[in-house]
Amino acid sequence: MMENAHSVVPTMWKHSTIVAGVPWKNPVGTASGTFNLAACSPYYDVSQMGAISTKGVSPIPWEGNPTPRTAETPCGTVNAVGLQNPGVNHYLVDELPKLKALGATVVTNVAGHSDDDYAEVVEKLADSPADMLEINVSCPNVSHGGMSVGTDSLALYRLISRLRTLTDKPMVVKLSPNVTDIVAIARACVDAGADALSLINTLIGMRLDIHTGQPILANATGGVSGPCILPMALSFVWRVRQALPDIPIIGIGGISKGEDALEFLYAGANAVEVGAAALFDPVAPLRIANELETLLDSRPKLAAKLKEGKTW
Ligand SMILES: Cc1cc2nc3c(=O)[nH]c(=O)nc-3n(C[C@H](O)[C@H](O)[C@H](O)COP(=O)(O)O)c2cc1C
Repeated sequence: MMENAHSVVPTMWKHSTIVAGVPWKNPVGTASGTFNLAACSPYYDVSQMGAISTKGVSPIPWEGNPTPRTAETPCGTVNAVGLQNPGVNHYLVDELPKLKALGATVVTNVAGHSDDDYAEVVEKLADSPADMLEINVSCPNVSHGGMSVGTDSLALYRLISRLRTLTDKPMVVKLSPNVTDIVAIARACVDAGADALSLINTLIGMRLDIHTGQPILANATGGVSGPCILPMALSFVWRVRQALPDIPIIGIGGISKGEDALEFLYAGANAVEVGAAALFDPVAPLRIANELETLLDSRPKLAAKLKEGKTW
């Protein structure tokens, strides 16, 4: 698999995109929490991705939730990993320099339990070589911060306005689908100064063990991702695009092949990120980028729009 993975990479991507002023080599990135440099780099040249969105980075190291933290669903997975990560200081001296040395376009995913947490991480990243920041206000697996901020327009407006004063870097806000009015949430982010939106994060779900009657996850509920969420994710992207024609959007949710990525581009996304598919096949993001490259060959109108930072 290793040799093949490297040999299918085009040396020059024909179909690039631009997200909030940042050029991506192609419209396919990795989704946060499903990419790990040490695990993926033996299988493919990670710099070939449109962008790499890292695991959420918090002010101090976090352990995440107790196990079991993942369960299968008929067409995807449900996880309650929580925002496990070694903290921003470690990220700045270890992962980020390695990714940049490889030539990757890096979207640093920012996590927090409070507004102060997010502010501390954004301040530390302000002068870093990260290309974009992706503010995760949508994790369903943490008790404070995460999704509780992302489902409240006023709290979100306050947080994003504060982060805007701390960085000039392009700031993407990653939205939760677990809301009644996605457009109101998206608008609050744009009004507060977000440069782009990424959507969606996982939908709340669970599995139960039929022998014990107990939830399988130690956290009881978790976030559902994978092919089963694709139709919902598309509708969220489409609704936000209809309401906000100019905001750059990164579409995420259930993408496992080039055709899925193309659907998101037709829904109005400027780019996409691949998540759960990479948990089953580490090379999936690059395979999907190659499949999309071929599909865009026969869609010159869409390809030309993406290249200019516009959308369908
Ligand atoms: C194991 C796991 C960990 C994740 N961790 C994060 C995270 O740290 N930050 C974040 O913004 N999203 C995180 N996500 C959400 C994904 O980035 C993505 O938005 C979601 O899984 C939907 O895409 P998919 O259906 O392609 O997986 C995680 C998802 C999974 C499955």
